[in-house]
Amino acid sequence: MKVIITENYQEMSEKASKILIDVVKNNPNAILGLATGSSPIGTYQNMIKDHKENGTSYKAVRTVNLDEYVGLTADHDQSYAYFMRTNLFDSIDIDLQNTNLPCGSASDLQKECDRYNALLENMQQDVQVLGLGSNGHIGFNEPGTPFSSVTHLVDLTENTIKDNSRLFSSIDEVPRQALSMGIKNIMQAKSIIMVVSGKNKAQAVKGMVQGEITPDLPASVLQLHPNVTVVCDKDAASLL
Ligand code: GLP
Repeated sequence: MKVIITENYQEMSEKASKILIDVVKNNPNAILGLATGSSPIGTYQNMIKDHKENGTSYKAVRTVNLDEYVGLTADHDQSYAYFMRTNLFDSIDIDLQNTNLPCGSASDLQKECDRYNALLENMQQDVQVLGLGSNGHIGFNEPGTPFSSVTHLVDLTENTIKDNSRLFSSIDEVPRQALSMGIKNIMQAKSIIMVVSGKNKAQAVKGMVQGEITPDLPASVLQLHPNVTVVCDKDAASLL
């Protein structure tokens, strides 16, 4: 696992975006695994800037996202589908038909998980972007999730509901469930880039990089992947 420590969020975002832009430049047909949350927003902003200034094209790029809240339609402003359009897709030349997220408003959620798993089997990510939950989750794979898991319905932990409530008008509006790629789906990526910032992630970063490999800290599984780059700011790295 390669760990790059940056001065701040901005430098973290620059470093991470450079890695992603290089993937697309080297392979215009690349498959990008994408993530939501506040951590990758700056990375996406740099990709947009590069697209506008240098013309890096996403016309033939395909994407798969990690997760989606259950019960929110794609036009709900807290859905991850909406997040991806407003923070990236609407500002680059990607074909929306080439973008994929689990559908959290599907009537049969198990069928939707099966659909997503079948899709992922044919879409190995050239690079998978990850953020890190303060409890060590990746995607919405909460502590205790088996490493063999594939896309599944998740009951969010109180910790995650509380963390994510800052983006909703009240904690009661935070969905209690989500659909998430499983850990096996994440680990199939050819390479993984994680962006982490802030002191509240420091304990999880320490466990992920230096701790025991255990489902109790889902991100620790990344120690088993041959090509992981963690780009974290010095606050997130403060316990290393
Ligand atoms: C959310 C998302 C994760 C994300 C994490 C951290 O619950 N499901 O994919 O990485 O929490 O979010 P943030 O970057 O906002 O701290």
